[in-house]
Amino acid sequence: MAPLFLFSFLALLISPAVSLTCNSQNFTKNRLYSKCLDLPTLSSYLHFTYNSSNSTLSVAFVAKPSQSDGWISWAINPTGTGMLGSQALVAYKKSGGAMVKTYNISSYGPILEGNLSFEVWDNTAESGSDGTLTIFAKIKVPADLAAKGAINQVWQVGPGLGTNGGLVPHATAPANLAAKGTLDLKSGQSASVGGDSRTKKKNIHGILNVVSWGILFPVGVIIARYLRTFESADPAWFYLHVFCQLSAYVIGVAGWGTGMKLGAESKGVQYRGHRNIGIALFSLATVQIFALLLRPNKDHKYRFYWNIYHHGLGYSIIILGIINVFKGFNILLPGEHWKTAYIILIAVLGGIAVLLEALTWIVVLKRKSSKSTKPYDGYNNGQGRA
Ligand SMILES: *[C@@H]1O[C@H](CO)[C@@H](O)[C@H](O)[C@H]1NC(C)=O
Ligand SMILES: *[C@@H]1O[C@H](CO)[C@@H](O)[C@H](O)[C@H]1NC(C)=O
Ligand SMILES: *[C@@H]1O[C@H](CO)[C@@H](O)[C@H](O)[C@H]1NC(C)=O
Ligand SMILES: *[C@@H]1O[C@H](CO)[C@@H](O)[C@H](O)[C@H]1NC(C)=O
Ligand SMILES: *[C@@H]1O[C@H](CO)[C@@H](O)[C@H](O)[C@H]1NC(C)=O
Repeated sequence: MAPLFLFSFLALLISPAVSLTCNSQNFTKNRLYSKCLDLPTLSSYLHFTYNSSNSTLSVAFVAKPSQSDGWISWAINPTGTGMLGSQALVAYKKSGGAMVKTYNISSYGPILEGNLSFEVWDNTAESGSDGTLTIFAKIKVPADLAAKGAINQVWQVGPGLGTNGGLVPHATAPANLAAKGTLDLKSGQSASVGGDSRTKKKNIHGILNVVSWGILFPVGVIIARYLRTFESADPAWFYLHVFCQLSAYVIGVAGWGTGMKLGAESKGVQYRGHRNIGIALFSLATVQIFALLLRPNKDHKYRFYWNIYHHGLGYSIIILGIINVFKGFNILLPGEHWKTAYIILIAVLGGIAVLLEALTWIVVLKRKSSKSTKPYDGYNNGQGRA
């Protein structure tokens, strides 16, 4: 029993490599390729063989046009990472078969046929019975890219052809915009779409920062603001608050670091707003940590100013943190449901805060009326914390 369990567990671990859809795809004319990849978006597949001794790349690219008389495209971008500059092979159906053409994409439109910046030969296309198209081609990889052993690839599917031989533009859904990455020609591992590992890094960055700036910091503030109204929660609220904000800070710094690294690696695209808010957040939160060390005794005459400083920074961090989480969502495009989930979470936290705010006022006013000689000053309940 145990070995069987272990075996199925191992199988589960290995299966991503084994269960690639592209492994079950085969081609006419005995075309064989040494590697294949399930590309991360648009249900597209790339099969390739790279011969480094004469820097020749043979590819077969399989995808389904977004409409039956649409087009599919696979491109190398020798100068950038996205669509502009792409040297594209485009295929569409034509009189029972399929047709392949080359496009030198130098603007967002109109997209017209043109020669590529590198040599391409044996380029053909076939249409499958399941509506897919396949582009076959051999490419002489430019010397600088061959030396790097990696290329930037871009792929796409579109709905149709224009009257003038141009292409009807593709959709701009997240899956379309994410259809790019690097292809490691040498490593040959099936997970070698560099864009994929970058996506993983971006997801880690997103999760760390949502948890830290987007959730833990606000929760810590809610704890500090509302729990201390209850005398029995003193001094527990204080330690909970410190624990929450310190964890948030540690996770946040890790998330911030991954963000700075992603930013440094992203040569083409810059998200300046997101980056600058991130840097501001890191600085504010670091100053806030010092607030803990500089905290005057609560009877001290500067405590009033310390409170203003600590609370002002705290609320700025929450507001900027939430803004930056949404900016991040718009960059990473993780799918609407993640954004919706976060909006619901923030709404729930906001609802809890409003409820507790009301409750606090009730408690405070009650206390005031019963002990009118000693008014509540907001920082004075309980004796536990000095
Ligand atoms: C190609 O794959 C299909 C199913 O995956 C299989 O039925 C067919 O025999 C294969 N053809 C060749 C030539 O291997
Ligand atoms: C790679 O290309 C060289 C030069 O054309 C050739 O001699 C060699 O056999 C090729 N390697 C493979 C694996 O096809
Ligand atoms: C490189 O070698 C392969 C395999 O021998 C061959 O198919 C291809 O045409 C060669 N490339 C060039 C540029 O000669
Ligand atoms: C592409 O190159 C061929 C020959 O290399 C040339 O005859 C043709 O005019 C070129 N096409 C364009 C659109 O530049
Ligand atoms: C591709 O287009 C760009 C911009 O129009 C041009 O500079 C370049 O020479 C073109 N490349 C080829 C191979 O025609």
